[in-house]
Parts: sequence; C-alpha cells; structure tokens
Amino acid sequence: MGGEGKTRDSKVGTRKKTFSEVQAERLEQAQRTVLINCPAKISEKKFLTYLSHHGKINSHYFYESYGTYAVVEFSEKDSIASLQDVTRTPGIEEECAVPFKSRLFTLTLKNPSTQAAHQAPVHCHKQSTILINDLVQKLCSADSVSNQLYTLMDEYQLTEENTKLRFLVCSLIQDIACAYFPECTVKPFGSSVNTFGKLGCDLDMFLDLDEIGRSPTRAKTGPFYMEYQMKRVPSERIASQRILSVIGDCIDNFGAGCVGVQKILNARCPLVRFSHQPAGFQCDLTTNNRVAMRSSELLYIYGSLDSRVRALVFSVRCWARVHGITSTIPGPWITNFSLTIMALFFLQKRTPPIIPTLDQLKDLADAEDKHIIEGYDCTFASNLNKIKPTENTETLDVLLSDFFEYFGNFAFNKNSINIRKGKEQNKPEPSPLYIQNPFERALNISKNVQEKQLDRFVALARECAWILQQEDKGHSSLSNSQPWGLAALLLPSVASNCVKGKKKRGQASERIKSLLDSLKINNSESLVNNGGKRTFSNQTQ
Ligand code: GTP
Ligand code: MG
Repeated sequence: MGGEGKTRDSKVGTRKKTFSEVQAERLEQAQRTVLINCPAKISEKKFLTYLSHHGKINSHYFYESYGTYAVVEFSEKDSIASLQDVTRTPGIEEECAVPFKSRLFTLTLKNPSTQAAHQAPVHCHKQSTILINDLVQKLCSADSVSNQLYTLMDEYQLTEENTKLRFLVCSLIQDIACAYFPECTVKPFGSSVNTFGKLGCDLDMFLDLDEIGRSPTRAKTGPFYMEYQMKRVPSERIASQRILSVIGDCIDNFGAGCVGVQKILNARCPLVRFSHQPAGFQCDLTTNNRVAMRSSELLYIYGSLDSRVRALVFSVRCWARVHGITSTIPGPWITNFSLTIMALFFLQKRTPPIIPTLDQLKDLADAEDKHIIEGYDCTFASNLNKIKPTENTETLDVLLSDFFEYFGNFAFNKNSINIRKGKEQNKPEPSPLYIQNPFERALNISKNVQEKQLDRFVALARECAWILQQEDKGHSSLSNSQPWGLAALLLPSVASNCVKGKKKRGQASERIKSLLDSLKINNSESLVNNGGKRTFSNQTQ
C-alpha cells in the first residue's frame, strides 16, 4: 500500500535534496578522502590516531578487495597535503615506480610479527551482493511479496560506503585529468547515482570540461577582447576522442590501481574502460555526455518520489539480469536503461498514476531547471518537493504481478513506449521494441533489441505473471521455505521453461509446480546442491 511506501520514505515532511546538491556535496567530500591499503590485522585505534596527526577525521570504514582497504574522510582538504608530505615513494627493489602522487596509499606495519600478533582483523563493510541462493532463502522468510521486494533491495542496493567509494574513484580520476584540464570535474552518472544501482554495478563517469568552455565575464571597459588560442578539430566527437585518448593513456600509465585500460573511441559515445582494482568495479569514462547525465537525474527523481518505484524497478532489473534478459555485454538485448524506462512507463499508466509524465515534470520546471543540451530540450523540475505525492495506494504485490501481465500482453508490434507523454503511441519504425528516447525524441533507445530477445522477455513475463497469480489464489506465505513470490521468479527454471518456446502454458506451469514440490521436499538442502542441477551464479551482476 501507499501507507507502507510512506513509512519507508524517511524524508517525508523534510526537504529532499536535489540531484545536483547531492552530487556537489559528495564530490566535495570525496576530495577530502583518501584510500589506504592496510594490513587486515591492524589496531583501528592506533591507525586513526596516526592519521589524526594530519587533521580531524570525519568518518572512516574498512572493506576488502584484493586486500584490506580503508576509506578515510578528513574534515579538511589540507590534511591530505600534510599526509602526502610524510609519505615516501616506493623503493626500486623490484619494479620502478612512476612517481605520480595520488590519494591512494599503502600502509605497512613496522614490526608485523609483534604488531599483528594479538590483533583481530578489522571489521569490513560489504562491497558485494550475497549469493543468490542465500538471497532466495531470505526472500522466502519475508511475509509478503512487497516485503520480498524491499528485502531484495536492502540486500543488493549500493550501500552508503560503496557510494562514497564511487565518488572517491571519480575524484581520483579527476586528479589525473586535472593535470591537463585543471578546472575539470569527473562526476558519476548511471546506476551509481540514479537510485537503482546494485552492489558491483559499473561506475559510469562523466569528464565535465564545460566550465572550461564558459566565457568569463567580459571586461566591460577597454577596446579589446582576449581569447585563448586553442587547437581546432572538425567536430565535438573528434575533440572527445582526442581528449579521452590522452586521458586514457594517463590513466593507464599513471593511475595507481587502474588496470585493463581500453580506449573504445569508435563507440556511439566514445569511452575509456578500465577496472579500478582497489575499488573492485569496472569504470567507464566518457565526456561530452551531458544528456546521459540528465537522464540519470530524471531516473533519480523518479526513484526518489515513492519507495515503491525503487523497489519495483530494482527488482525487475535483478530479475532480468538473473534470466539473461539484460547483460553486462553490449548486444541485441534489452539494456537496464530501457528496462527502467519500461517500468517507469508502467507506473505512469496506473490509475491513479504513481509517477508523473516527463511533460508534467517539465511543466513544474522553473527558470534554473531549463536545460537545452545539444539542441535537445532536457528541462524538468529538479526540486522533488514540488512534485505532489501520488494518491495511488496499490501494493507492490499487485504492481509486480501487473507489471508482468502488462508487458506479457503489450502490443509491441504496433505501439511504442513514451514516458514523456505517459502513453503508448504508434511505432514510427518497425524495430521490435520501440522506446522513445526521453530527450533525443527522434531516437529509439532500444533499437539494438532483436525480435528473439523481446520474445524471451514476453514469454518470461507471462510465466511470471502466471506464477504470481497462482500464488495469490492459494499461497500461505509463512508455511515453509520453498521458493515463492519473487524468490520463485528468480529461479533459472522459470527461464528454461519459457525458452522451450510456444509450448502450452499448462505444460510449462506443470514443470514449475513439480519444481516447487521438489523444493518443498528438499527445502533443508542448499539450492546449489539439489541434484547438481540447480546452480546459480554467485553474482547477478
Ligand atoms: P547498469 O547496467 O547497472 O550499468 O545500469 P546503468 O543505468 O548505469 O546503464 P549503463 O551503464 O548502460 O548506462 C549509463 C547511463 O547512460 C544510463 O543510466 C543512461 O543515462 C545512459 N544510457 C544508457 N544507455 C542509453 C541509451 O541507449 N540511450 C541513451 N540516450 N542513454 C543511455
Ligand atoms: Mg552503468
């Protein structure tokens, strides 16, 4: 119900921050933060006392990723210079170090044998999701499908600590780019900040050089204008490619912890991809990508409006990933972005609607919300407090089931999805799936999707709607730990039943029923060990 949603919105009644405010706050915080590789067995107290010599520490936490790391946020930026002053460069015993001084350090014990002897390992915050079979067990002990969705989100969402780490990585990359462009900023976008991010998701970064392009206030007096002499290239795309090529080389050559650097400059949106080993996630650095930044803000707004939006979108994204509807590899499948827009569209179509249309958000915009990017109107209200809460009180049980029902029967052959209007429209071209780009309106964001992939999605959606409807008729939720509700939908067997094609629904459903029965019998066993057949990948990423 809406009431349930509201109790989970801790910010009801208080002013919610805008996307830009959150970004600015976190980016500033990241600049006062360092990342330290340290021994697992270390006295936390001594560690903090040692670092406190350089200034007040606001917060810190430990995590594991190829070793133990500490993220330490100082209260003042000056503390970092003070710490760097007493930090030595590595010796040249084995390999020679490239002397680029960053905020990524290694701390070692002077006398490891005595210092670590009676020390317990430090407490580490989790940075990855639990195994899916453990998740399934947890979901089974929830008391409603709604609570299953919230449990999934609680388990898989980005933590506050992981979010801080993502901003810190942006800030470390910004330090490298600043060598050439001192006024640049590197900002996260995509699922790291759009409220739908899952632990382990990639970090999309935007190298923002826009401030550099801005004209300073022109001197009002005097007979002259001054202008920089700058290299000229034929297009913005070529400028982006050249900048990313150089920054990519810098990341490769000087970026501590950055491995596997690939320059993918011929992509629709040129990018540099690498793994940030200490952080434990993949990074995609782009520039000249303001529309994507704006899309992320739009998703952030929708995700922050009502807790049911996040829970539904988050669960659908996980469900799709488990069944290979979406993939981390580019290809003919539905992307997370497209799937998110589909789920938002569904929520706009409820009676009464759960979220406003993009045109309604545009009507609420004021002067500072006006954004025209590359000729596209990307205007919408950024102040969440201006958007009236919905009157809709449907439960997530209903919404999840109806989501599958809705898309299981959607006329994809003739209709397109349009979140600007909140209405389906005639498809302007025959792509199997047509989702209008919210800003670049003549484009289809799911042009890549092939018929076969869409058919799989539809078949799976129908199967899942059927499973949820059956349970609605007779399930006693607290009876045992057999997979039910969302847990049942995450089982790989659901997908394999659908792939076998256009067989009668009854047959596929019979198999699901027998599977559920067999799980009832074996419910004390781990799902992974059930006859060797039910293996899950440990990450749904
Ligand atoms: P993950 O799969 O968790 O990484 O989800 P994501 O939302 O971060 O998606 P992805 O990394 O593929 O893309 C990052 C952002 O780029 C999205 O949030 C969108 O803002 C934008 N984006 C991605 N795909 C498209 C597309 O097809 N068209 C447009 N216009 N923007 C896109
Ligand atoms: Mg992403």
